[in-house]
Amino acid sequence: MGGGARARVREFCERFGLEVPILQAPMAGACPPELAIAVASAGGMGGDGALLDGPERIADWVARFRAGSSGAFQLNIWIPDPPNEDQARIDAARDFLGRFGEPGTETSTEAGAGPVFDQQCEAMLEARPTVISSIMGLFDADYVRRIHEHGISWFACATTLDEALAAQEAGADAVVAQGMEAGGHRGTFDPDAAERTQVGLFALLPRLVDGLRVPVVAAGGIADGRGVAAALTLGASAVQVGTALLRCPETGISKGWSASLDGLAPEATVTTRAYSGRLGRAAPTPYVLAWSEPGAPTPAPYPQQRRLLTQWRRGLPDEPAGQAGLDRSNHWAGQGAALATEEPAAQVITRMWRDASALLPPT
Ligand SMILES: Cc1cc2nc3c(=O)[nH]c(=O)nc-3n(C[C@H](O)[C@H](O)[C@H](O)COP(=O)(O)O)c2cc1C
Repeated sequence: MGGGARARVREFCERFGLEVPILQAPMAGACPPELAIAVASAGGMGGDGALLDGPERIADWVARFRAGSSGAFQLNIWIPDPPNEDQARIDAARDFLGRFGEPGTETSTEAGAGPVFDQQCEAMLEARPTVISSIMGLFDADYVRRIHEHGISWFACATTLDEALAAQEAGADAVVAQGMEAGGHRGTFDPDAAERTQVGLFALLPRLVDGLRVPVVAAGGIADGRGVAAALTLGASAVQVGTALLRCPETGISKGWSASLDGLAPEATVTTRAYSGRLGRAAPTPYVLAWSEPGAPTPAPYPQQRRLLTQWRRGLPDEPAGQAGLDRSNHWAGQGAALATEEPAAQVITRMWRDASALLPPT
């Protein structure tokens, strides 16, 4: 099994232009080009979570990455959810947000949903990354055809075998198996299923590996060489890490967010819809915990909850944390948070792979 791991890794790395089978997770809002450049310089794959970026910002990120690296990188996007304008839920969430201060004024350009998905998709094609990746669903057949015509590969995030099989059927070149340990949003295709279908990576990975023809990339709770070796032994061809890189200086997250990761126990992380309306794993900040108090409403559906929160943050005073516990960043955190170290990202990747290699059988 271990010998098989090395062969799988070699094949994956050759196919996608890597020296090390570690992908930096695309983390919307927390993945400047400097982070991707550092990861690529260590032989891994850099990544950009482009959810919040319009076409110009996507092109700019790619230009800055290419100015610092000729390595492999992925551009990532969320597949939009079907519209859910549940006005009663939106109103209840807005009322509850009142306890965190006053909302700022919504500017006319923000009244819409944000960057336009079709334009983001065109910008990603134009940039010709190594990989375009999706989360929360699948691209349509026409876009998948165009990805491949442009010589790009498509990686699709899945949280169950059914989602993974649908991705393979739709033409995905690899599936990212996201365990429930993962920091940030859960990629469940059906937004309402996210709490019900939480599967740990140790159970998810063999199930996907046994059920799929395409290579599987493991994600969720992997934060050191032991985790990398375990995932590769369970059948993954590579791993994707997010939380482990959050405290690297290149990531540039706020001091408050970084401090909330320091020593954070796996069982202390929480899953919450309080930041966006979609379920994600985060540190237990007073803001997040307030939404699970008795009597608290269900957050508004995605993306309205995120839009409301953006408006509230605009009303925050300049101090790092508002007095009611709301600050300007989402404190995402996976269950491996305590293993995240404050050191350059290239060092983290190099050590992870060196330690994993020492654990895998030689052939
Ligand atoms: C801060 C943060 C932001 C994230 N944003 C995205 C995103 O925009 N797109 C995506 O596909 N995954 C996103 N993820 C999830 C990662 O791709 C990956 O599944 C996760 O980081 C793996 O678990 P780990 O954090 O325990 O390493 C994000 C994760 C974090 C921690």
